[in-house]
Amino acid sequence: MIQEVDKKIFPQGFLWGSATSSYQVEGGIENNDWAEAARKGKIPAAGKACDSYNLYEEDFDFAKSLGQNTHRLSIEWSRIEPEEGKFNNAEVEHYRQVLLALKNRGLEPFVTIWHFALPLWFSNIGGFENKKAPFYFSRYCEYVADRLGDLTNFLITINEPMVYVGQSYAHGIWPPFKRSFIKVLRVVDNLIESHNVAYKKIKKVKPNINIGIAADQVLYIYNKNPFNIVLSMILNWYRNRRFLSKIAQDFIGVNYYRPIQYGSKINFQKSDMDWDIYPQGIHKVLNQIKRYKRPIYITENGIADSSDTRRAKFIEDHLYWVWCAIQEGVDIRGYFYWSLLDNLELAEGFKYRFGLIEVDYNNMRRTVRQSAHVYKNICISNSLIPSD
Ligand code: BGC
Repeated sequence: MIQEVDKKIFPQGFLWGSATSSYQVEGGIENNDWAEAARKGKIPAAGKACDSYNLYEEDFDFAKSLGQNTHRLSIEWSRIEPEEGKFNNAEVEHYRQVLLALKNRGLEPFVTIWHFALPLWFSNIGGFENKKAPFYFSRYCEYVADRLGDLTNFLITINEPMVYVGQSYAHGIWPPFKRSFIKVLRVVDNLIESHNVAYKKIKKVKPNINIGIAADQVLYIYNKNPFNIVLSMILNWYRNRRFLSKIAQDFIGVNYYRPIQYGSKINFQKSDMDWDIYPQGIHKVLNQIKRYKRPIYITENGIADSSDTRRAKFIEDHLYWVWCAIQEGVDIRGYFYWSLLDNLELAEGFKYRFGLIEVDYNNMRRTVRQSAHVYKNICISNSLIPSD
């Protein structure tokens, strides 16, 4: 018999869900910079992806049946504004149906306005390198808030700005495939301004909506070498904290996946992507984020695990440390596993499997993984129940 006292109970009203993004799951998106790069052979094509543009109701049925009460998804900018300043009503209506489908199932929508991929017209004029980017981006955000804002209480303007800049302008492995320190600095500052202008414009049309970003948080682990100590401190400040300290926000979305080691050689268990698994790291980053005194939602946490042998424990262990942070007074109000279903792992293609639900890309058939049932028990009991 499990003693009540052994249960690690989460606060009443805690949100339990999973996350996806438009380009990674919808399919049929050809008018953005990722699709263009795929046509040039630089990255794998998304093609039909999971066909969630058509199968979203089935996907949400799964989320509901898995005990979830919220869902995070993104709006595809290139669908809503296919040409500069021209907005597509039919696509707005599509997303209205998507959000209604969530609400009808009792799933609280969390809507990301921009998740990495840019409409071609915007990337052709330099994307966030363009000085006028805050104007273009905030106009799009305002439009989304105006047309869809009655169907959601939460808007995330930007997903992982520092990952975007790192991959696209430092490592040069995502569109626009650049490697320039100067551009990194410029684009980060333009993103900060873009968010802040968007925040004001959204509040004008929808004063009560909660606005934030989804901030990727890396835990830096280092040895005693002074170079590694200083490097980690600078990166921690620039990558994890600077952006958050400069933006207006009503809540903070935290995406935590892994630690990065400088000098130290701790032998962690690894995911299929060779990422170290360090659940306690989420506790450390949450404690760091509490300084901003905003409610926190864990907007992504997940593992590539095609054998589904590590996922259940990954979720339980991370949630244990989330629970500890809550006991210590950190205001955490929700958790989204990445991802509801297998999908396009960005420049890596379809080989990595993050889903609670397995997708057979030949026929789009969905199969619920065993770990999804473990997560379901957590969601419906609102607690971590120790396995005796
Ligand atoms: C992103 C997702 C991505 C996931 C796993 C996050 O950086 O927001 O789009 O699929 O991590 O790599």
